[in-house]
Amino acid sequence: MLSKLGFINCDVVEVLLTTISAKGEPNTAPMGVWIEMGPRLALRPYQETQSARNLEVNREAVLNLSQDPELFLSFAFKEELRQLQSVEYISAKTVKAPRLSGANAYVEVSVKPKHSTEFVTPFREFLCAVQHIEVTSKFPLAFSRSRSAAIECVIYATKIRALHNTDPITVKHLAHQIGEHYALVERIAPQSPAAEVIRKVETLLPKWIK
Ligand SMILES: Cc1cc2nc3c(=O)[nH]c(=O)nc-3n(C[C@H](O)[C@H](O)[C@H](O)COP(=O)(O)O)c2cc1C
Repeated sequence: MLSKLGFINCDVVEVLLTTISAKGEPNTAPMGVWIEMGPRLALRPYQETQSARNLEVNREAVLNLSQDPELFLSFAFKEELRQLQSVEYISAKTVKAPRLSGANAYVEVSVKPKHSTEFVTPFREFLCAVQHIEVTSKFPLAFSRSRSAAIECVIYATKIRALHNTDPITVKHLAHQIGEHYALVERIAPQSPAAEVIRKVETLLPKWIK
């Protein structure tokens, strides 16, 4: 079932990860996930993310599958774009962390930290055991270059936010990449929601790039 949803060996898929805090508050963030150790999945949130903190205290999560760039944008920049959010959570079947209403599929997982002794990293690594999978979308989605370009731009912007004080060269490169992706989407789908997402990303950048 996981492979039918696009989770295949040697690749990373991007999901909207729902977790809950010690106080029971739900949180959603875009996160990369990959297959590791047979049927288990792995993910690697930065130490300072709410997702990492939540997974330390509540070892369960839902991987919400979506290709909607607006969702990736609004959950990557919750502080900066409060007005974008109209989140509806629904109960999961097997875990306390909720599902995100409207996602195309849900993978409910229990989570445990992966104690890597190799080197100290800014990440926390977790292994996920699948508890339950549910597909809600009747139809497969066609590939869209503009959707994928917009989600790529959201990732670049999160990296710019993380690196703006320490790595100006990478930040400059990432900003250039966002410009290139925007040029593509302007050419192929200027009226699309994806183009609008990249325009919103560009409005955020002056906070971090002087
Ligand atoms: C597609 C996509 C994938 C991402 N993957 C990761 C990841 O694997 N690890 C991570 O720490 N941040 C990742 N990010 C950035 C986080 O989503 C972002 O920092 C977010 O604000 C964290 O939210 P939180 O503090 O609520 O957990 C990704 C962002 C996007 C758009």
